[in-house]
Amino acid sequence: MVIGVLNQKGGVGKTTLSVNIAAALARTGKRVLLIDADPQGSALDWAAAREEEPLFAVVGLPKPSIHKELTVVGEGYDHIVIDGPPRVTDLARSAIMASDIVLIPVQPSPYDIWAADEVVKLIQEASVFKENIKSFFVINRKIANTAIGRDVRDALGGYNIPTLKASIVQRVVFAEAAAVGKAIYEQDRDGIASQEIEAVVNELKENFT
Ligand SMILES: Nc1ncnc2c1ncn2[C@@H]1O[C@H](COP(=O)(O)OP(=O)(O)OP(=O)(O)O)[C@@H](O)[C@H]1O
Ligand SMILES: [Mg+2]
Repeated sequence: MVIGVLNQKGGVGKTTLSVNIAAALARTGKRVLLIDADPQGSALDWAAAREEEPLFAVVGLPKPSIHKELTVVGEGYDHIVIDGPPRVTDLARSAIMASDIVLIPVQPSPYDIWAADEVVKLIQEASVFKENIKSFFVINRKIANTAIGRDVRDALGGYNIPTLKASIVQRVVFAEAAAVGKAIYEQDRDGIASQEIEAVVNELKENFT
């Protein structure tokens, strides 16, 4: 399965989710490749910060030819996760074309809901060429028991893209894990944050046939 984690909006959690989804998939014994398609190279930075053995392979490919190179670059892997860039349209378009599933992290803020418009358009364009592409919103950095946390689901319902039932709460441990190049399940020792990531991965697997 090729999962593209994309949103033209910056700072929504693309890298955080990419790294942790890749780690959760690798944990089940699958061979996983994380493609860093962002010129900022954040996923590569994460890998470089790590002192332990790598959990999965990470390569930088911030080029608009990802969809063409994937068959060669992705050879031998069971799952590929693509960490998308903010703003750069040609890279995002290529990453979408390379994906079986596009996952769009969205924070519970009206600005994020409005900005999702851009990536939704790119997916619509790509689906002309790639009919069976699936896409889902995932709510990230949810703040428990706030009205905006509940409303975001309704607001996203305005787009023609479903929102995953699983969502990720705002937790400092995500940044703490990233700082030392660890997956959330290593830092959080199978706590609630790891369970949320597992739930996202399970829902993606259920939707991949
Ligand atoms: N669920 C969360 N709880 C707490 N902090 C989070 C969470 N998700 C992301 N963050 C933090 O928010 C910041 C932005 O996240 P991240 O870098 O993953 O976003 P991004 O979409 O990849 O950004 P960019 O568009 O710049 O690539 C980081 O500091 C990250 O640690
Ligand atoms: Mg990023």
